Amino acid sequence: MRPDELTVVIDPPQLALAATRLFVAAAAEAIGRHGRFDIALSGGSTPRQLYQLLATAPWSRVVHWSRCHFFWVDERLVPPDHEESNFRLAQETFLSKLPIAPGQIHRPRVEAGDPEAVATGYEREMREFFLPSPLAPQRSPGDVGSDSHLPRLDLVLLGLGADGHTASLFPGAAASQEAERWVVSTPPGSLPPRVWRVTMTLPAINAARAVAILVSGPEKGRALKSLLEGDESLPASRVRPSDGKLLWMVDRAALEAAGLGL
Ligand code: 6PG
Repeated sequence: MRPDELTVVIDPPQLALAATRLFVAAAAEAIGRHGRFDIALSGGSTPRQLYQLLATAPWSRVVHWSRCHFFWVDERLVPPDHEESNFRLAQETFLSKLPIAPGQIHRPRVEAGDPEAVATGYEREMREFFLPSPLAPQRSPGDVGSDSHLPRLDLVLLGLGADGHTASLFPGAAASQEAERWVVSTPPGSLPPRVWRVTMTLPAINAARAVAILVSGPEKGRALKSLLEGDESLPASRVRPSDGKLLWMVDRAALEAAGLGL
């Protein structure tokens, strides 16, 4: 799948800056259009600098934080204060430092323990948020994608695993083939941390208004090359928004390792 936009940057700090600009612009646009910014965050190491920048001036001052709603693309089944928790990463690096109320944070309730119960509970919370009851006032038409039965996130931030996974959609795993549900549980993949996870599915991700895949570091070169070649066996290759934009943000080390110099 070719991206609608490919941003190539020199190094991880520049990747964080480019992603911060994207976040800020997408938030302003979404809040102007429907009064809210609904974003899904990823974990892993790549977005850490982006999250840190968002909590730092001038960026921390230019986002209307009280209008933002935070979701997680995927979560590891560890307690929310565990060092491997994707929620903890976002909470520590930026959410706790900004004027954001608990009602704006929509995280998978890992406390439920059983992976399937966590996934089902999270999908229920998302459905209540994105598919308001028929009695609720109508949303503006601009807020509905080509399939009004799916969540319409304004922005989904994804990473790329060295094995071609994205979110917690691992190559060959059933979760990567899911066609109906918005959130599923999935057993540990081959990469650390080897714990059960819950993950948004491709239909949920692909219903977003915009999806950005952040790719950093030489270890991502092989996966990036396969992605550029459209290798459909990689879950990341099947990230293809049906009525939205696909943006790739890639740093030089990843691009060079994919055999494409700057
Ligand atoms: C997770 C992530 C996952 C991540 C990729 C890339 O929970 O692990 O959400 O999909 O984005 O594995 O991870 P790095 O940024 O650490 O390379």
